[in-house]
Amino acid sequence: MRVLVVGGGAREDALSWRIAESPSCDAVFAAPGNAGTASRGVNWAIPATDGKLLARRCVEERIDLAVLGPETSIAAGVGDRLRAAGITVFGPDRSAGRLESSKIFAKRFMQRHGVPTARASVAHSLEAALRALDEHDDGVAIKADGLAGGKGVVVARDREAAKATLAQWYGASRVPGGGNDVLVEERLEGQELSLFALCDGERIVPFGAACDYKRAGDADTGPNTGGMGAYSPPRGIPEDFVSVACERILEPVQRGLAADGERYLGVLYCGLMWTQDGPVVIEFNARFGDPEAQVLVPRIEGDFAALLRSVANGKLETDTVTFSSRACVGIVLATSGYPAAATPISGLTPNVALPDACRMFWGSSILRNGAVDASGGRVLTVTATGEEVEHARARAYEGVRALSAAFGAYDLSYRTDIARV
Ligand code: AMP
Ligand code: GLY
Repeated sequence: MRVLVVGGGAREDALSWRIAESPSCDAVFAAPGNAGTASRGVNWAIPATDGKLLARRCVEERIDLAVLGPETSIAAGVGDRLRAAGITVFGPDRSAGRLESSKIFAKRFMQRHGVPTARASVAHSLEAALRALDEHDDGVAIKADGLAGGKGVVVARDREAAKATLAQWYGASRVPGGGNDVLVEERLEGQELSLFALCDGERIVPFGAACDYKRAGDADTGPNTGGMGAYSPPRGIPEDFVSVACERILEPVQRGLAADGERYLGVLYCGLMWTQDGPVVIEFNARFGDPEAQVLVPRIEGDFAALLRSVANGKLETDTVTFSSRACVGIVLATSGYPAAATPISGLTPNVALPDACRMFWGSSILRNGAVDASGGRVLTVTATGEEVEHARARAYEGVRALSAAFGAYDLSYRTDIARV
């Protein structure tokens, strides 16, 4: 089959790599793609949010399956447009995608259908948000309703910090993502975990889990980012976490989607906090995580493209997806100044020799005259597999050293504590 991957980050590079390796895949395309996807398929110079142009090109190119990478594509209704043009799409339409694109929609969905989530109040103005603070203990998370590229959540250590954030959002600057709506919610304690599930409109099947490192600096210091590294499978949570999460989270979600008449086709990313009382949903995303995808896809066994197509067709024929018992660790290399700034860099070597079991995935970039120009921010993810997380981790950092030697002139930064026990 001919498969299009929509998006241009390291997540899409990883998806396109695993799709291209699938026996059922004959050709892989990416829009807009990056330096990595260009090395194994054809990049289309079409933005990931332009449903109209993408639909036309998919028809011309006889695409059998389109896989939506970023949340912006889903929220822009690319899935709706492609389906209307007769294309099979892995990724929800805009309506079901509100589980990610509106935190208030997601919160109400969870409250309605008995999915464990943090207690929260909705506010539409500064006054109402300040009143809502009184309904909670000291620690709260303040969340902008809409998509804000990782900038829409502030976990406030105390009431003063929460007030300062709200005053800033409603005052001089704006509520991130636009709009006036915020959630004020109780702060959860526990271990964070990204759990993935495939949804084919009728069934929901667990699809691996990973731990993501969101803060920019070692020991979880510095600002929130899109994610600086990840590892899979997770540690530090009960061994039966998948069956517990199925019963408490995934099954109520599936019943809720059915009751609401939402046909969700794709992957649901459940951002969980594993608390003393078990899993609680922090957020839903309507797509694979970045960098979680980079550590999940090397562990998936079987024909990945065929699996995605069966989900997209509403015909997932298995209750379990097999993952390798090997662990995978991924480390993100970013331009210094990320996340505040994304400084473009140019002239990087596309092929750096990496140690065994390592693989690198490019972030937003283009291949020009045999060299890579990157937009800056998260430039690439290096991953490695190993028998245990420790082995994978040691190899991944060997890969980082090889890349640091090759790209020494560019001042790339990374965390040194990804997947450390
Ligand atoms: P989000 O953008 O929703 O992924 O939130 C970003 C990060 O904020 C999450 O990964 C958590 O680390 C943290 N966070 C969000 N909500 C809460 C909460 N209710 N309690 C504690 N931490 C939270
Ligand atoms: N790594 C977090 C995300 O993809 O949203």
